[in-house]
Amino acid sequence: MNHKSVLIRIFLLCAYPLFSSATEENAVLKGEDSGQNDFSTDSPSVAGIIKYNMRKSLDLEQEGCYLKTGKNDCLEKCGFNATAKTIFIIHGWTMSGMFEHWMHKLVSALMQRESEANVVIVDWISRAQQLYPDAVNHTYGVGLDIAALLNWLQDEHQLPLENVHLIGYSLGAHVAGYAGMHVRGTIGRITGLDPAGPMFEGVEKEKRLSPDDADFVDVLHTYTREALGVSIGIQQPIGDIDIYPNGGDVQPGCGLGDVLAVAGNFMEVMKCEHERAVHLFVDSLMNKEHLSYAFQCTGPDRFKKGICLSCRKNRCNKIGYNATKMRKRRNSKMYLKTRADTPFAGYHYQMKMHVFNKKQSDDADPIFNVKLYGEHKDTADMFVDVHGNSIGLNMTNTFLVFAEEEIGEVLRIRLSWEGESDSWSSMWINIKKKFWGNHSKPVLEVRRMRVKAGESQKKYAFCAEDSSKTEISPGEYINFVKCPDGWDAKPKKRVPM
Ligand SMILES: *[C@@H]1O[C@H](CO)[C@@H](O)[C@H](O)[C@H]1NC(C)=O
Ligand SMILES: *[C@@H]1O[C@H](CO)[C@@H](O)[C@H](O)[C@H]1NC(C)=O
Ligand SMILES: *[C@@H]1O[C@H](CO)[C@@H](O)[C@H](O)[C@H]1NC(C)=O
Ligand SMILES: *[C@@H]1O[C@H](CO)[C@@H](O)[C@H](O)[C@H]1NC(C)=O
Ligand SMILES: *[C@@H]1O[C@H](CO)[C@@H](O)[C@H](O)[C@H]1NC(C)=O
Repeated sequence: MNHKSVLIRIFLLCAYPLFSSATEENAVLKGEDSGQNDFSTDSPSVAGIIKYNMRKSLDLEQEGCYLKTGKNDCLEKCGFNATAKTIFIIHGWTMSGMFEHWMHKLVSALMQRESEANVVIVDWISRAQQLYPDAVNHTYGVGLDIAALLNWLQDEHQLPLENVHLIGYSLGAHVAGYAGMHVRGTIGRITGLDPAGPMFEGVEKEKRLSPDDADFVDVLHTYTREALGVSIGIQQPIGDIDIYPNGGDVQPGCGLGDVLAVAGNFMEVMKCEHERAVHLFVDSLMNKEHLSYAFQCTGPDRFKKGICLSCRKNRCNKIGYNATKMRKRRNSKMYLKTRADTPFAGYHYQMKMHVFNKKQSDDADPIFNVKLYGEHKDTADMFVDVHGNSIGLNMTNTFLVFAEEEIGEVLRIRLSWEGESDSWSSMWINIKKKFWGNHSKPVLEVRRMRVKAGESQKKYAFCAEDSSKTEISPGEYINFVKCPDGWDAKPKKRVPM
C-alpha cells in the first residue's frame, strides 16, 4: 500500500513532521486502521504508530529526530548519548489530536535544566485520540513498545536503566507504569503527573502505575475532586511518595472565578487543575532556588490544621524534579500549599496558642486574625483557620499559616480579634454593656504563641510584648515578640508533632 511506503520512507529518514502536521499523520494512520478494522488490538498494531521524538533544539517548532527500535543510524543521527540521562515524556488522553501547550513548556524546562540529557517525547497521539476506554486500552501496548525500545538500548548501547526517567501525565503515567513493569531491569524513576483516575482507581497494581514500576516513583495529585462518582486524577496513593498539593483537589487560581475569562467554561477549570501537576513540575525545574516542600501527613484535614510540618525521619521532601528517594516508604501521602501561579512555592508555619478562658466567657466564639512581621516583609492579616472548628477555649489551638512570600525570620506576631471595632459595633457593645454589665464583653487570654517554620524547621516561642497585656476582647489585638527565654521556655514537655 501507498501509506506503508510513506511510513517506511519516514522511518529510514529518522524524521517525521512533529508539531506541524500531526493531523495529516493521523489521517494516514486512521485510513490504514479503518481498512484493517483492528483499532482496539494491542501490541502488533501499535508498532510504528508510536513515535519517539528526540528534541535537539529549544526551538520547539524545529522538527526533532526520531528514535526507532533496531535502527542504529537513527540513534547516531539524533545524537543519542547512552551515558547521559534519558527522559521520556508521555502525554495522556487527547481530544484535539495535538500536543497540548504544556508539552512545549515541559520539554524546554527539561532541556534547560539537563542540557546533556536525551529528552524524548513519546508520541502516541493517534492511540490517545479515541474514546477514553479505547485510549485506556492502548496504554498497555504503548508501555510495551517503550519497554522494547529500552531493552534494545540496553542490549545494543549498554544504556543504564537507572539513568532513565519516565514522566507521564494523566493516562501517560499508567503508560509509564506498564513500560517500567515490562522492561528488563528497573527504571531509575517514574514521575506520575496527576495520573488518570477513571478505570484505574482501585484496580490491582499490575494494571496501573505502582511503586514496583521503577526504583523511585513520585506522583503529584492535583485534580482528585470527585464529580458524578469519578475523579479525573487518581485519588489513591500509587507511588513511593504521593504529593497532594492543596489537598489534591482545589487548586488556587483554577476556580470558576479565576478562569472565567474563558466564558465560565467548566472544561477550563478541569484542565487547569489536572494540568497543574505539570506546571508544578515545570516550576520545580525552573525555580530551583526556591523549591516547594511537601510534608507527610495522614490526611488533608490534619495538614490544614498545621499538625504535620515535620521533616524528621524523611517526613518532608522537595516536590517535582528534586524530589528524593527515601528509604522504602510506600504510598506516603504528602501535602503542601502552593501559590496560584509560578513561582508556586510559599512558606508554611505551624502556630500553636493556648486560649485561656478565665472570665466566664464560655460563649465567646472568637474570630482571630494573625499577622506575621518578618525580617524582610510582613504578611497580610490572615484568618486563623482551625479547620472548620471554632477556636477551642481552655485548650491549645493549632493552625497553619501560609505566607506567599518570603518574610525572613519572624520578628513579631499580631493576634487580633476580628469585629466590633467599627463604630456601629462599638455602639452596639455599649448598648449591650448598659444592659448586661461587664459580662457581655468576652475576655480571653493568650500568653504565648509557638511557631514552627516548615521550610527551615526552626521553632520559636513568642510572648506578649507587654506582659501585662495578655487579654483580648473583640476589636483588640495582642502583640507578641520572641520570648527572652527562647523556645524551651515554659512547657518543658516536648510537643509531639
Ligand atoms: C481492549 O481490547 C481488547 C482486545 O484487544 C478487547 O477485548 C477489550 O474489550 C478492550 N477493552 C476496552 C475497554 O475497550
Ligand atoms: C554524554 O553524556 C555524558 C554524561 O552526561 C557526558 O559526560 C559526555 O560528554 C556526553 N557525550 C557527548 C558526546 O556529548
Ligand atoms: C536537585 O537535584 C540535582 C540533581 O538532580 C542536584 O544536582 C541539585 O543539587 C538538587 N538541588 C537541590 C536544591 O537540592
Ligand atoms: C475554662 O476554665 C475556666 C477556669 O479557669 C472555667 O471557668 C471555664 O468555664 C472554662 N471554660 C470552658 C469553655 O471550658
Ligand atoms: C466593669 O469593669 C470595670 C473595669 O474592668 C470596673 O471598674 C467596673 O466596676 C465594672 N462594672 C461592673 C458593673 O461590673
